[in-house]
Amino acid sequence: MKNNLIVVLAGLARLTVAAGVTGSATGFASGVTGGGDATPVYPTTTDELVSYLGDDEARVIIIEGTFDFTGSEGTATGSACAPWGTAAACQLAINQDDWCTNYEPDAPTTTVTYDVAGVLGITVGSNKSLVGTGGATIKGKGIRMVGVTNVIIQNVAFTEINPKYVWGGDAITLDGTDMIWIDHVTTSEIGRQHIVLGTEASGSVTISNCFFDGASTYSATCDGYHYWGMYFTGANDLITFTNNYIYHFSGRSPKVGGTGNTLLHAVNNYWYDYSSTGHAFEIGSTASVVVEGSVFQNVPIEVDTESGMFNGQMFSVPSTGYASECAESLGRDCEVNIFGSSGTLSYTTTNFLTNFAGKNVAAAAAAASTMETTIPANAGNVL
Ligand SMILES: *[C@@H]1O[C@H](CO)[C@@H](O)[C@H](O)[C@H]1NC(C)=O
Repeated sequence: MKNNLIVVLAGLARLTVAAGVTGSATGFASGVTGGGDATPVYPTTTDELVSYLGDDEARVIIIEGTFDFTGSEGTATGSACAPWGTAAACQLAINQDDWCTNYEPDAPTTTVTYDVAGVLGITVGSNKSLVGTGGATIKGKGIRMVGVTNVIIQNVAFTEINPKYVWGGDAITLDGTDMIWIDHVTTSEIGRQHIVLGTEASGSVTISNCFFDGASTYSATCDGYHYWGMYFTGANDLITFTNNYIYHFSGRSPKVGGTGNTLLHAVNNYWYDYSSTGHAFEIGSTASVVVEGSVFQNVPIEVDTESGMFNGQMFSVPSTGYASECAESLGRDCEVNIFGSSGTLSYTTTNFLTNFAGKNVAAAAAAASTMETTIPANAGNVL
């Protein structure tokens, strides 16, 4: 009897965890509730998943296994170009909106067939929690949050979105959103961006515990390192980026600003294993970035400074003497970053730190080499 009771209680405990979100958002999206305590739904087909994500109901959507969208919308054949060469490991660019014609007029042209489902992500409405369990994976299509608020995406992998083709699709798109939490997500083998915040303002975004896997069969650098990582260029984006593992990229991870006043707080992340000519950050004009408490290992170029690429504002806590610069606006000291077989970050602009005042600011642990183990072990859809 007693044993039975224990079995029943253990079952309930597991259910409780599986039925909802684990933990809560830190940083700018603190307080996000997603689908709240709506009765969970358990889609088993891609159609059901699309329907639950896109409808007008507050929903807790629990998924398990692989939802494979490959082929679900057929294929398309169209013109493309090869701006980076025609070697087998090179990405090709679909001539979307005449991109090849306008930007790469001298590149060799070709014809390609790609999967239509990958091009545009699944529409996600407001007040949704999408929670994966047991390694849940969405294959061949990303998600798209446009003009919505209060969404949690947790413990899901996105993979194989036309990886050979630039403009073949993004994994996660935010545009004109507020209160979005992306947590414990894995992205790999993506055509374009792993995550993109585009042109309208995305206020209060927290991206945490994610594994951005840039190891790719095809890349714009033709070397297995994906170039298109995180693209944070909306107007007035407010992004907390914490405890993420950013692996094996050759550029734009992230690209920040250029068009909007993005404020990026990057804290306790692990950047690892970049190509020898690749870079992590691109910092455009109007971008404001704090990088602290993070580990850079085998990242030769932290920020692209070539040809005027750096023209925003960054505070990177170059030494402990700078830590107290954060106290007034972030409510605590900042933490220095550490580097192994990498370049350095030495940016000391602090006038923009006042933009943190009154906001939910993520905590920072001291950067430590142990993070090279602890962050990858915890990142991605491993809950
Ligand atoms: C989201 O939920 C809030 C609180 O229940 C509600 O006021 C709002 O209308 C919902 N938004 C949408 C788009 O359904």
